[in-house]
Amino acid sequence: MNPDLFAIAHAGMEIAEGATLFKARLRDESADFLRTVEKIAAEVPFRHMLTPGGQTISAAMTNCGDFGWVSDRKGYRYAAADPVSGKPWPLMPERFRREAIKAAEEAGFANFSPQACLINRYAIGAKMGLHQDRDEADFSQPIVSFSFGLSAVFLFGGATRRDKTQKIILEEGDVFVWGGAARLCFHGIAPVKADTTQPRVNYRFNLTFRHVR
Ligand code: SIN
Ligand code: FE2
Repeated sequence: MNPDLFAIAHAGMEIAEGATLFKARLRDESADFLRTVEKIAAEVPFRHMLTPGGQTISAAMTNCGDFGWVSDRKGYRYAAADPVSGKPWPLMPERFRREAIKAAEEAGFANFSPQACLINRYAIGAKMGLHQDRDEADFSQPIVSFSFGLSAVFLFGGATRRDKTQKIILEEGDVFVWGGAARLCFHGIAPVKADTTQPRVNYRFNLTFRHVR
């Protein structure tokens, strides 16, 4: 890692009040993280959930932790068991937990206690529309996001859907933390593009850690 990237990975960049980007923070460990994601997905396969309106969500999802985020005709919610199998989600790997807590702490959120890890898998062309994360009970707890694989343009807006969005590139090993004044900012993912320099990398993976209730 070059010295500039090293500094940014460790100190973080404040993108907005309460929102900190740590560039390439987990890049050297991405292969390990992705192997762990693969193991979780072997237990609980990625699936395309439906929105309450009946549309298919373009990112495929799975979860680990005490709760998983799920969506279907009945709404968006956190569930302690996978609605497909009825079984609890796989345990949140200690390493995931530790890194999420550490990043939150360095971004200014000292008491983060992640209970859910939603894993999004974006194929080329998949996207996520602008939304707020508001299915959690305690907005004093931040959201922590890890990105691996293909890069994406993360749109990070303000408190209303109409607010202007910043375009933030999230790439391999980037960690983004948002909480406090930024906790309810609208955000989304522009359609993921292929990387012609890495023709064998076909997906973007994003892990979001949340305190649920
Ligand atoms: C999300 O908002 O749940 C996902 C964000 C991302 O994929 O980076
Ligand atoms: Fe979100």
